[in-house]
Amino acid sequence: MSTITVVPKSDSLVFSPERIQEFQKKVFSFYQKNKRELPWRKTTDPYKILLSELMLQQTQVNRVILYYDKWIARWPAIDALASATRAEVLQEWMGLGYNTRAINLHKAARKIVTEFDNDVLEAMKQYTEIPGVGRYTSQAVKIFSTNADLVTVDTNIRRIFIKEFHLPDKVSDKELWGLAEQCLPKGRSREWHNALMDYGALHLTAQKTGIKPKTQQSRFEGSDRQIRARILRYLLKETMSLSELEKTFGIEQMRLRRILDKMVTEKIIVNKNNSYQLNE
Ligand code: ADE
Repeated sequence: MSTITVVPKSDSLVFSPERIQEFQKKVFSFYQKNKRELPWRKTTDPYKILLSELMLQQTQVNRVILYYDKWIARWPAIDALASATRAEVLQEWMGLGYNTRAINLHKAARKIVTEFDNDVLEAMKQYTEIPGVGRYTSQAVKIFSTNADLVTVDTNIRRIFIKEFHLPDKVSDKELWGLAEQCLPKGRSREWHNALMDYGALHLTAQKTGIKPKTQQSRFEGSDRQIRARILRYLLKETMSLSELEKTFGIEQMRLRRILDKMVTEKIIVNKNNSYQLNE
């Protein structure tokens, strides 16, 4: 009988309890001295935490704070947001960038109200059904609102692990999430993740470590993304025909048409009576 040798693919990293404790102490002691007071750290409301996480995805903390406070004042609960129009939501989001996040958030709010009886946490259990919400965000919402013994890994936390545990850049998500589990101090998940956020944002920065995120934001200036943002800005105010848009934008006709077609396909805008307008 022949035997087959199975070489297990390494998908777990194991460190000694002493090594883990040392790391926890380092992060917590940094946090004690450098803790940031952030508005979403004063709440356990899953809706507010979801909002903060979506705003923070591609935007700096300082800019998010202003938008977050205004947003909460206008739509203090998920049903209020669900009742708003898309135009109102986009208007409030304008300036934060990556407007698809606002459209997704609005869709998510409507879905959570109609299909999850306003229960954001229940929706996070089925996050694959919620527009704009991935594994990182769903876990973050659960952690910051309930302090449950769960972990999450974003680009900042990934960078901390790579630096502190001397991991290769190509370390897999599975390995990182496994290491995150080992590092979690039970019963202190909320505090631990806040501490990691501050450690990554203030101490082990991307600049200081030279560790690049797996995907990087593309340049905004001159990009399709910039044109799309400009189109939205105009259409929030008035409907516009193709020729009006062409005159206003002064970019190559083919390019403008391609961008508009894509926005129509994505159901962000519609073309009615030869005029482009926001999709409601
Ligand atoms: N980035 C993503 N989530 C964050 C949070 N809760 N606090 C600070 N920065 C963050």
